Amino acid sequence: MDNSKGYAIELHGIVKRFPGVVANDGIDLKVRRGEIHCLLGENGAGKTTLMRVLYGLYRPEEGEIILNGQSVHMTSPRAALNHHIGMVHQHFRLVPTLSVEENIILGLDEGTGPLMNFRKTREKISAIADEYGLPVDLQAKIWQLAVGQQQRVEILKALYREVDILIMDEPTSVLTPQEVDQLFTTLRTLVDDGLTIIFITHKLDEVMKVSDRVTVLRQGKHVATLSTAETDKPTLAKLMVGREVVFRLKKSPIKRREKFLEVNDLYALNDRGLLALRGVSFELFGGEILGVAGVSGNGQHELAEVLTGLRKSAKGRVFLRKKEITNCSTREINDLKVAHIPAERIRMGIVPSLSICENLILKKYRHSPFSHGEFLDNKEIEENTRRAILDYKIVAPSYEIPVKLLSGGNIQKVVLARELSEDPILIIAVHPTYGLDIGATEQVRQILLAQRERGAATLLISEDLEEIMTLSDRIMVLFNGEVMGILDAEGANIEEIGLMMAGTRYRGEEL
Ligand SMILES: Nc1ncnc2c1ncn2[C@@H]1O[C@H](COP(=O)(O)OP(=O)(O)OP(=O)(O)O)[C@@H](O)[C@H]1O
Ligand SMILES: [Mg+2]
Repeated sequence: MDNSKGYAIELHGIVKRFPGVVANDGIDLKVRRGEIHCLLGENGAGKTTLMRVLYGLYRPEEGEIILNGQSVHMTSPRAALNHHIGMVHQHFRLVPTLSVEENIILGLDEGTGPLMNFRKTREKISAIADEYGLPVDLQAKIWQLAVGQQQRVEILKALYREVDILIMDEPTSVLTPQEVDQLFTTLRTLVDDGLTIIFITHKLDEVMKVSDRVTVLRQGKHVATLSTAETDKPTLAKLMVGREVVFRLKKSPIKRREKFLEVNDLYALNDRGLLALRGVSFELFGGEILGVAGVSGNGQHELAEVLTGLRKSAKGRVFLRKKEITNCSTREINDLKVAHIPAERIRMGIVPSLSICENLILKKYRHSPFSHGEFLDNKEIEENTRRAILDYKIVAPSYEIPVKLLSGGNIQKVVLARELSEDPILIIAVHPTYGLDIGATEQVRQILLAQRERGAATLLISEDLEEIMTLSDRIMVLFNGEVMGILDAEGANIEEIGLMMAGTRYRGEEL
């Protein structure tokens, strides 16, 4: 001792292999006590895997974990917890039907037995929530909460267990910009109190804003560890991607075609039976991208669901190329060449246990060329997969691998490949670049622009204003289920849009 001084965690030469891939190829990582350390890397770089090794979910084939100078065997998440390590996963693991409080104490010894002291528990949770700015209704059931609130529950759950080290796997990809700011404030308060935080992301802005140091992974290898103050975005982008990155999207002038979609006075209820859409009307033309801006929970989700047949409308009518599709089934709507890129890709976008091949043909295996009579044509199916993997740069060890084992970003690419491969006329894209790294984000944006060029109409729902501004021809702002206005994207003023997102009606000229 004691060259480990100051390091809360040291990982040495971690190797973790899966069939066909080396997810972690001898990775070293040193995290200082009391810092926010970002783990940066492209989709499939090995970030989640490395943190699962640290958290005891995976046993590495090689390598050593040293905590506070001591070598440890991390055999399970319980062992990790005993070492005061907590993790907030990329996909939350709360029980939807239980209350916030029940979820927080779930699995703890004090959570069982008739003598459990609810009052003390509640006081402790409230104290933590107050101290770190994590307000949440303890009696609410998880399913009633927005994603941002669910995340607070996950953080509270870890803090309740008195962790010293908190791992957060892409915590911001489900949050609105305001929630991201709140989270960053909370994280700062936590490190000021002595916690150590590892923060996984592929967003450079976030690295610059929140971290003290940053480690870059590329293709399972450690590339660099830098002090954030001494680096910049272009440097990090280059380290992450392995080449110079240029951000340039070519967007041609709009060539509006016929009216593809007409929505008249649409009303719909949300899952809780409250009105989520109140008289939404708009038109969407071929060759156009209409961006839908708004703070999450203002009806965007329900709008996408009604248009794709997943939710019934309470009132109002929808026409696709003059044909009425109000309350048609998903299958009928899909057959009219409407593509849907859903927000919740794990739950709605894929069948997790099926292979890439199978997921790619989910909607069309009944038809030629994939089947003849009762028989599936394996050669065609394989060829289809090969093309998708090539076109969308899907990183996968094999075609047969269940989709759930792909990295988050690669799952998204499978959904995109399936939905966009058949020349849709209408694309309902909800957060199409959530969870994608810089390269993949740019690629997906190019793809959406190419679809626009081809003449497809796109409804782009996103909370990322920058994304809306770069891609859209017009922007519609939703607030509390109502359209606050629709404006031309060119020359649109961010402040104006911000005001509309907060409930001010557009004062300019309606289009
Ligand atoms: N349980 C598993 N079985 C098989 N392969 C896996 C498993 N988990 C991860 N992989 C593979 O290991 C590689 C690294 O995946 P990982 O999830 O660690 O990436 P990531 O950096 O977190 O990416 P993303 O930003 O997309 O979440 C990927 O090629 C992935 O397909
Ligand atoms: Mg990941």
